[in-house]
Amino acid sequence: MSTTAAQTSERLARIVPEALAAIHEVLERHRVTEQEWHAVLAFLTDVGKADEFVLLSDVTRTSVLIDAMSHGDDDAATATDVEGPLYVENPPWRDAPVKIYEEYEGSEDGEVLFVHGTVTSTDGTPLLDAVIDIWQTGPSGGYDIWDERQPEFNFRGRFGVGEAGEYEFQTMVPKPYTVPTDGPTGRYLAAVGQHPWRPAHIHFKVTADGHEPLVTQVFFPDDPYLENDTIGAVKAALVRPLERRDGAARGLDAPFSTCDFEIRLRPSG
Ligand code: BEZ
Ligand code: FE
Repeated sequence: MSTTAAQTSERLARIVPEALAAIHEVLERHRVTEQEWHAVLAFLTDVGKADEFVLLSDVTRTSVLIDAMSHGDDDAATATDVEGPLYVENPPWRDAPVKIYEEYEGSEDGEVLFVHGTVTSTDGTPLLDAVIDIWQTGPSGGYDIWDERQPEFNFRGRFGVGEAGEYEFQTMVPKPYTVPTDGPTGRYLAAVGQHPWRPAHIHFKVTADGHEPLVTQVFFPDDPYLENDTIGAVKAALVRPLERRDGAARGLDAPFSTCDFEIRLRPSG
């Protein structure tokens, strides 16, 4: 729903005074000093310079709060989740059979994973024009943008669905990783004693005409950080089992895993 200028002014007029009153109350209660306040301002300046406001919103679990308030608790639709700061615009289109990565020095010990499911409306109608956009880390080295060994857009890509709304893509099982810690948000995490780890996950953005876009993540059971994600983004409905299979079933020389993830989009409006 788009917001008019008048609605924006009205929201600002209601929210800003309350936000300032809440901040002032905390500053007063703790008798925050001039030196401490200047350090806060210098920190926020650094966050802006480092383009880390999304990351800061994530690790303070503000993004999770906004996500929870923004999307209905409608069990018929796939649960949403936060986008995070690591999406890269215009990933390549991947034709079927979809494979979103190239092997690289460091991927040898990784396990192949086929993720599949269908994309439907909440009433079960297949959405044949759906576009799925995936991003995730490799089995070592994290995201392509952090890892010189990986080609650009490795473990990223967009693709469509088949005649019954079905999709499948080949990837590798991701591993837990730390959010970036080399900037001001990393200093914040260290200062407040919060670890920087996220459980292994795959990000999805799914769009289809006449439906609300879905941004979400899929997690896997038994991950050491499922209960303790630094951004607090794990939802039980998004933890999907991995099934181990013999490589011969797909002509591979090592065992692989499969994961079923059904995607239900909510009609717009
Ligand atoms: C991510 O999952 O890509 C992510 C989310 C929040 C902060 C940093 C990274
Ligand atoms: Fe991620």
